[in-house]
Amino acid sequence: MHGLIHAQLQKFVIAHHGRPAWQGLLKEAGLGNKTFLTSKQYPDSDIGGLVTAACKATGARADALLEQFGAFLVPDLIAMYQPLLQPSWRTLDLLEHTESTIHSVVRMRNPEAQPARLRFRRVGPDEVQLTYDSARKLCAVARGIIRGVAEHFEETVTIVETACMHDGAATCEMSVRRVMSSEKPVPAAAAPSRRQARPA
Ligand code: HEM
Repeated sequence: MHGLIHAQLQKFVIAHHGRPAWQGLLKEAGLGNKTFLTSKQYPDSDIGGLVTAACKATGARADALLEQFGAFLVPDLIAMYQPLLQPSWRTLDLLEHTESTIHSVVRMRNPEAQPARLRFRRVGPDEVQLTYDSARKLCAVARGIIRGVAEHFEETVTIVETACMHDGAATCEMSVRRVMSSEKPVPAAAAPSRRQARPA
């Protein structure tokens, strides 16, 4: 995994819990005093170990932590890759162009980088459907990034996940719908899937 993700995880933990907490997680994950450089690649297992240690320390669920982390990533990702973004884009436009315009450039600049394979389909002016496929099974990070993108554009979206690799599906499927300010977000109990609609 791209060192950017590890470095951002460090920033996320230090921002929320302080440097001693980060040092504690490194130790618990068996990583000693390891430092992460954004120019390097590191094993996915480092992230796995750190997230497991964070769950143990906080009692939080891994998917909840990963979702928060995904949202945290967005301001820096957008700042770093700003030239790839069209000024006219809003949340759903950015999502729709992530694979063709953003992840493809990440792969080109760094052939070792393996961002998730995302297929976004625009199914209407206010809705895209995402198929997420990655051996890393980080769909929680994808949900968080979507929430973070919506926050960046000061828009509200609901995310309904209708299939998940963690439940044995071949891919994760989610529908992302922009909620207009005149509409109310779908209440969780009325969401049309077993996973709850999440207003961003
Ligand atoms: C400005 C926009 C974005 C940038 C610059 C960006 C960049 C990156 C980079 C550098 C990585 C690490 C790749 C690696 O470890 O090899 C990554 C991974 C990832 N990206 Fe993006 N990304 C963006 C938008 C998105 C969006 C909109 C989504 C999903 C909705 C997304 C989902 C993911 C996920 C889930 C991963 C973790 C790797 C995996 O699941 O296999 N990204 N991205």
